[in-house]
Parts: sequence; C-alpha cells; structure tokens
Amino acid sequence: MGEGGGLAGPERIATGGGDGSTGVDFQGPPRTMFGPFVVLPRPLRFQRAPPPMSRPDTVIILAAGQGTRMKTGWAKVMAPLCGRPMIAWVVDLALALEPKRVLVVVGYKADEVRKALEGLDPKGRIRTVEQTEQKGTGHAVQCCLPELGADPGRVVLLYGDMPLLRAESLELLCTEQAATERGMTLLTAQPANPRGFGRIVRGADDSVARIVEEKDATAGERTLREVNLGVYCFDGRFLVESLPKLSNQNAQREYYVTDVVGMFSAAGRRVLPVEITDEREAIGVNTLVHLAEARAAVQERLLESHLLAGVYIEDPRTTFIAHGVTIGAGTHVAPCSVIEKGCKIGAGCHIGPFAHIGENTTLDDGAEIGNFTETKRSHLGKKSKAKHLAYIGDAEIGERVNIGAGTVFANYDGTHKHKTKIADRSFLGCGTVLVAPCSTGEGATTGANSVVTHGSHVGAGELWVGVPAKAKARRGKGA
Ligand code: UD1
Ligand code: MG
Repeated sequence: MGEGGGLAGPERIATGGGDGSTGVDFQGPPRTMFGPFVVLPRPLRFQRAPPPMSRPDTVIILAAGQGTRMKTGWAKVMAPLCGRPMIAWVVDLALALEPKRVLVVVGYKADEVRKALEGLDPKGRIRTVEQTEQKGTGHAVQCCLPELGADPGRVVLLYGDMPLLRAESLELLCTEQAATERGMTLLTAQPANPRGFGRIVRGADDSVARIVEEKDATAGERTLREVNLGVYCFDGRFLVESLPKLSNQNAQREYYVTDVVGMFSAAGRRVLPVEITDEREAIGVNTLVHLAEARAAVQERLLESHLLAGVYIEDPRTTFIAHGVTIGAGTHVAPCSVIEKGCKIGAGCHIGPFAHIGENTTLDDGAEIGNFTETKRSHLGKKSKAKHLAYIGDAEIGERVNIGAGTVFANYDGTHKHKTKIADRSFLGCGTVLVAPCSTGEGATTGANSVVTHGSHVGAGELWVGVPAKAKARRGKGA
C-alpha cells in the first residue's frame, strides 16, 4: 500500500460539516458493491472537513427606506408577499442563522414595520434601531454603532428587499467567512439583467477590490456582469472601525455601505465573493414589477412544497396559496383557486375551480368548496360541501352539510359581523340567505330561496321555507 496510487489504507474522510467530528470514519478500505478492494486516490479531495458553520453574533436588516421607486407610498419592506409582508421573509432568513440578536433598522413608517416584526421570533432576539433620516445604506448601518460596540463579533448584513435568498446561501456565506482571516464575504451573482445592482470589481487573486454602484459606474464598469446582492458577513471589529469613514461624495449623495468593501480590501483584508447560481434568489424588490416577480418566485416555492407533500395542485400557474397554509395529502386544488393566510385544509378535500378560500378558513377532511364560492373565518366539518356560487362568512358548519348553490351567509349588519351555526347533516336549499346570527339543528332543511332571519333557529329535522322562512314541516313530511 504505497503512496501515490496504491491503496489508500485506513483514511479519515469527513463528510459532514464541522470539525470532522460529524464526519464518517472509514477504518479500512470501504466496502462497496465492487468488494472491499477500492483504491482511494491521493490526495483525497475531502481530506479536510469544511470549516464549521459559524453563527453570526448579530444580523442587521436594513428596512428604513421608503422605496420611492415603488411609487405606492408603502414602506417598501411592508409590500405584501404571499400572505405576509416582505420583511417577514427576510427576518426568517436572519433567524435561520441562529444569531444572538437581530437588529432591524426602521425609519419610514417605522411603527408599521415594528408591528410587522411582532411575534416573528418567539425567542425575542429582534430589536429595532431608528434611522430618522434616510441617508443611504451606510448611514443606516452607522445608526447601529451604539448597539454594536467596539467588538461586535461576526456581523451579517441583509437588506429588507431581498426576500428570495435561501438560508443555505447565507449559511455558506458564514461558513466561508472563516477562510477570510478577519476579512469579509459577500454574495454575488451574474443575472442576465443586472438592472441597477452594484457591480463587483475584482482585484488580484480574484478577491473583491470594491463595489461600484450603477449610477457611479463608468461605461466599462457597467459591462461587468457580476453584481452585489447586498448580503455580507463582516469581521465586526473592522466594520465598526470603517463605518465612520464613509463619505457621501457620489452620484446619489448617500452614504453607501458598499464602500466598506473597498476599505476591507485596501486594508489588506480578504474580501471573498460567494457566487450563487440560482438567479431567482437574486430578485431585489425596487419596483412593483420586481414585486410581481418576487411574488411568483415565492409562490413557486410554496406550491412546490405542497406538491411534494401530496397536494394535487392541478394548475400551479393559476393557483395562489399563502404562506403558512396547511393542506392534507390527497386534496385536489382545481385551477384558478386562491387560498389565503391562516387556512387549514384537511386531507381529501376538493377546492375549485375558481374558489376563494379566504383568511382563517378551516376545512376538515373530505370537505368541498367549488366554483365561485368564497369562504372567510369559517369552519366546515368533514365531508360538508358548498359546490357552487356561495358566500360563507363567520360560519361554524358541522359534518356532511350540503350548502346549495347561491347560498349566502349574511354575516354583516353594517356595524358588526355575526356568526351562523349549522349543525351536522343540515341541507340548505339553493339561494338560502342566512341572516346572522342564526342557526340550525341537526338534519334541518331550508327550501330554495328561503330567508332565515336574524336570531332564528331552524330546529333539528325541521323544514323551513319562505321569506321570512317559517317552519313548514318535519323533514320529509308534506314539503
Ligand atoms: C443596494 C446596493 C447595491 C446592491 C443592491 C442589491 C448600496 C449602496 N447599494 O442598492 O450595491 O446591488 O442593493 O439589492 O447599498 N435602506 C435603509 N436606509 C437608507 C437607505 C436604504 O434602511 O437610508 C434600506 C432599504 O429599505 C432597503 C435596503 O436598505 O431595504 C436597500 O436599499 P435600496 O435603496 O433598495 O438599495 P439598492 O439601490 O437596491
Ligand atoms: Mg434595493
């Protein structure tokens, strides 16, 4: 078993992350389907384990900007994205890194943004820092200086308008940071259209020399294809030393945090680019066009996870499902259907086509909501059905209830919303209007076009008809 081409003999191959302790130890030639005599070439590619995934001490998220290019008047990070504001997606990314704390820089419509942050981290690591005047990304990070202190450890910086990044890419960024020796890492990409992104100027040894913003770039620099995604992992001590040195002598008269990159490089500290290849991660939301792209990309991920979990989404292109919705396996979602936030859908249900499952709807197993039916804050028990043209709001509906075409739960009196309770096996005839609050007992029936008025109770097994609806008979007798 000699060197250079012989059998490798006992080797230690670390395949896991960390310092090798999670790696696999082969105490002899590995056994494979070809037998035990396998030649492991030297040098082994993975002889050294990758450096440990190091958690950042602090993640800073910039969320103070108005987003003037959106032209909506919203705080940009509050833009809706599949059932939650954009900032919530970015906070999720930050928390995936398990930092000690997350500092969110807020400014424009700060109270709205603060409210959106409530409850996102049960461990309470999120704090806000106010940037009263928006003077650029560098100024926003400068506002964190009192919180950071002289040696904040490892600091990750994210922008609140990059919601498509994957946690895996950020983990890689942090892992690679260990190789920079008190330098920094940053995510880059080469999208087909660099639209407004800062360009990466590479220096000797292929590390990054500086970033030039598009508005400040020369014609030559604009042809650079590699762009800055605004995601950085810094040696925090050098970051806090550099921040006060930023200047606003540039096209936008702003303090750019991107200039810190040049400072690391000029000081001889390594600036390591980590390139991502999935262009969809690189969607930065600066206009409503970008928001539409981001929504489609987030939606694609959500739908993919439902499909892989056994939800039959017939036409993903026309199906909208919000973040946090749960759906049981074997449920069929037919085309052109919308399922909003807070919904819980059981297994074996049927939804659509053209169904609108509004906020906080619960469908138990086997329930069906069909064509042009809208639900809101309602619960349908097992195997209950509303297959055509109904509105179901603020309703508690039992099992095996049939809701005829055109039935309306009139839940709003102009001031308050009221509840309707429909017991198991009730049968609501076509065009029934239920003026809430009202209720039915088990096995109750209403005739076509009946109006069950405010405060009424259709007794168990009774048939009610007319306007206003009155008891006519026991079900099945004389109707
Ligand atoms: C920034 C980068 C650019 C990068 C791009 C990636 C700078 C100078 N430029 O440009 O290199 O390619 O992101 O998406 O950093 N913000 C504040 N306070 C401010 C200004 C901005 O909190 O004073 C926040 C915004 O709310 C936003 C983020 O910082 O969430 C980025 O600001 P934005 O104006 O969108 O920067 P870009 O022009 O996209
Ligand atoms: Mg931006």
